[in-house]
Amino acid sequence: MKVLRKAFKQQLSDVVTEFVASAKADQAIVEADINGSLAHVEMLKKSGLVTPAQAENLQTGLNALKEKYLKGLFILDAQYEDVHMNVESKLAELIGADAKLLHTARSRNDQVALDMRLFILDKTADIEALIADLQNALIQTGVQNIDVVMPGYTHLQRAQPLLFAHVMHSYVEVFNRDKGRFGDSNKRTSVSPLGAGALVGSGLAIMPEVTAAALDFDHLFGNSIDAVSDRDFIAEFLFAASLTSVHLSQLAETLIIWCTKEFGFIQFPDDLTTTSSLMPQKKNPDPMELVRGKTGAIVGELVNVLITLKGLPVGYNRDLQETKPGAIKVSDELAACLKVMTLAIKGLKVMSVNTLEAASDPELFATDLVEYLVTKGVAFRAAHDAVACVVQYARDNYTPLSQLPISDYKKYAAEFDDTVYKVFDAVNSVNSKTSHGGTATQQVSDALKRALLDLAVF
Ligand code: ARG
Repeated sequence: MKVLRKAFKQQLSDVVTEFVASAKADQAIVEADINGSLAHVEMLKKSGLVTPAQAENLQTGLNALKEKYLKGLFILDAQYEDVHMNVESKLAELIGADAKLLHTARSRNDQVALDMRLFILDKTADIEALIADLQNALIQTGVQNIDVVMPGYTHLQRAQPLLFAHVMHSYVEVFNRDKGRFGDSNKRTSVSPLGAGALVGSGLAIMPEVTAAALDFDHLFGNSIDAVSDRDFIAEFLFAASLTSVHLSQLAETLIIWCTKEFGFIQFPDDLTTTSSLMPQKKNPDPMELVRGKTGAIVGELVNVLITLKGLPVGYNRDLQETKPGAIKVSDELAACLKVMTLAIKGLKVMSVNTLEAASDPELFATDLVEYLVTKGVAFRAAHDAVACVVQYARDNYTPLSQLPISDYKKYAAEFDDTVYKVFDAVNSVNSKTSHGGTATQQVSDALKRALLDLAVF
């Protein structure tokens, strides 16, 4: 039995029925759809478009349906195309003729826009909380390892010593921006489109502001055409999700490198690693690889929505249906990635002996040598040149910088004296970086404290 076919002589073929249906994706927005309908009925009652008794009947039926859905007992049928027609037909089974009143002054066009806004607002709140959990883990792991010194990298080449906790805090900052982006896009998502009808509003005495308030929206749509065709909020959600996912991927990649034998900076516990079906010794960071690997599909959904929107003429177009599955999938995948990353950050063990040894590579102090000369009055560029020559000389003579005699140093700058050997201490090097946002222990420890306070406010 096909729906909405009274004006047609032919039924839809099974192939086309299946093709136009969005029942599969809509399974995720049933609760949003029913909540929207409950508010709509309240508005219809206030506007006098249904009687209080009819409203009660409708609401009882809708609540029963919601309960069924939450128990996993309401599975949408593609014969009814989408969630909206599924709900309406099921409601008719439950409460009889009053179900025909539900769609008064409403179109599936404003309804689906409403459902997706409610869905995204709900998922965004979950994701923001999961980002905060991850930030909390980064802070705790940083605090627990506040003394751990490791090499910092640029171009994946050893650069200068820094604190492991400084790296953890750098990701706290990254995820602050991500949380902020979800918050920003929320402002434009929290706009109720209900009351826009198919695209021109309604000739009936409706009160869209009542539904907007009942559903806790911050704003009401300003133009009925825009209300039904705007999917910017989905694109913005997907952009915020994509960038978060890119950041998770970068963090995953960092951890994957750190847990190699070659680096040996961290170890993952057994419950965060998988093994090989062939090589019994293997302990692989598959969860991290999958966080990295899922990013492509997440970014792909953003591109999908942008390209879907690109070709659309003014008004509602069915193409918009294709913006739903990606948003639904991404909200699930991103939440899963965030949960796994939080477990990884909480579970990793820092191999502080290895990190200190790597951070004590004498070449990592070349910049400290430059600053040493600068504090003795040498101009920066001259100091840089002098140290570069010392570095080259040490390499040519297969001698670590820290073991070159002072006479060799003096060949390149007279300002060098015996105190130069004090420079080759990773902890001192780190603690000398007291400039704003630098890696000195006090700076990092204060930054982590502030970050924890910010989280408590969030
Ligand atoms: N299922 C559609 C969607 O997801 C909503 C239905 C609008 N259909 C229509 N023929 N106006 O966008």
